[in-house]
Amino acid sequence: MQNGTDDALNTPKTISSKRHAGLDAIETASRDEIAALQLSRLRQSLQRAYDNSPFYKSHFDRQGVHPDDLAGLEDLARFPFTVKTDLRDNYPFGMFSVPPEKLARLHASSGTTGKPTVVGYTQNDIDMWAQVVARSIYASGGRPGDIVHVAYGYGLFTGGLGAHYGAEKLGCAVVPVSGGMTERQVNLITDFQPRVIMVTPSYMLSVLDEFRRVGLDPAETALKVGIFGAEPWTNAMREEIESAFAMDAVDIYGLSEIIGPGVANECVETKDGLHIWEDHFYPEIIDPDTGEVLPDGQKGELVFTSLTKEAFPIIRYRTRDLTRLLPGTARSMRRMEKVTGRSDDMMIVRGVNVFPTQIEELILKCEGLAPHYQIELSREGRLDRMVIKVEATEDAAVADAKEASRGELAHHVKSAIGVSAAVDVHDPGGVERSAGKARRVVDKRSAG
Ligand code: DLL
Repeated sequence: MQNGTDDALNTPKTISSKRHAGLDAIETASRDEIAALQLSRLRQSLQRAYDNSPFYKSHFDRQGVHPDDLAGLEDLARFPFTVKTDLRDNYPFGMFSVPPEKLARLHASSGTTGKPTVVGYTQNDIDMWAQVVARSIYASGGRPGDIVHVAYGYGLFTGGLGAHYGAEKLGCAVVPVSGGMTERQVNLITDFQPRVIMVTPSYMLSVLDEFRRVGLDPAETALKVGIFGAEPWTNAMREEIESAFAMDAVDIYGLSEIIGPGVANECVETKDGLHIWEDHFYPEIIDPDTGEVLPDGQKGELVFTSLTKEAFPIIRYRTRDLTRLLPGTARSMRRMEKVTGRSDDMMIVRGVNVFPTQIEELILKCEGLAPHYQIELSREGRLDRMVIKVEATEDAAVADAKEASRGELAHHVKSAIGVSAAVDVHDPGGVERSAGKARRVVDKRSAG
């Protein structure tokens, strides 16, 4: 480590070796200590990316910047942004900073088209990730010895495995249920009596409905802590869940490109926004139009730089999530306000990230369909419903052909993106046209 402060705060700590019971030392460090740690780690991270990732070497060279140019944290603004399409263009491993034999895990999430965005982890990265998720669960009110019901999806999505390793690291027993089979979720919650649940907020509402359907009182379960994220949700939804289950509901944020869940988490004692684990993820807020860095307190697009990741260091990644940075409260680290929207057109449908461009690509694969479309999102009960309105080509505007195109597109969407969509095939000219920018998404879901 380059300086003494870093050494003092960096020793890989388990939850049991803290200065403050249960907390990592850095969680209550002074702002000066945090900034000193960030600066030394930021230097290392820029250097690691520059030395080991051909992508970053040429990315920095093109902008005429070098890791040595970083004298203070504010100099990060001189470095270029990384965007989602950079990951696609370097699919699958072109941005990694370690050779494949050093990897311990791969995850992937939706790209804007075709190929997913792939992220890689070394064993140290997996350990760090488990540590920040353990910290998040602790901040939420989870404790060693708890049973944790994980209903985030397991697989390429980072939610399930991210939550799982963090809960184990904290010393909890994990029930790795994954998503779906709502009746079974209710049975397991009733029988195993978990104290903590980790799941998307919208699916928690489906679980709630199922409790009521089978005539069980959700307030009677052992659940005391719910850790909800992967999609936007409101304080109104928090109140509904908290009162129905007699539990505390807190927000967890993250994205695969940065690590997965556990980039930021609310503290149960204040529930006033999400503390960013700034010792590993350095946040900036920028004006989404100009790219200019905005001062704390102003709303804009969240940008993250990883400070400690090995396999896939990521510099100034534009998350497209809109929020603002606020000073620390329950912890010294800064908070981000609940994410309210995005600066791009990514939709989150039943917890799955979907870009209109992905749908467009699939429409273009269907011979009988014209490239005019609109996606309508609504709620069916508690669940998201996606309807894709498309047009038949002149040649294929008869009933049989339209039905074949409908089935073909629905199948492509399910198999390529993993969500079920209803497809409405209209006659030529039947989909709304716009003189300027096409309105691709009509979102009729109310966030609450
Ligand atoms: O959703 C990681 C995650 C899993 C976070 C489980 C929390 C819990 P991705 O699939 O890469 O990763 O999607 C990341 O989801 O840029 C946000 O737009 C959105 N998102 C994640 N958490 C929240 C949240 C996971 N708490 C994208 N509030 C992000 C609002 C969220 N949006």
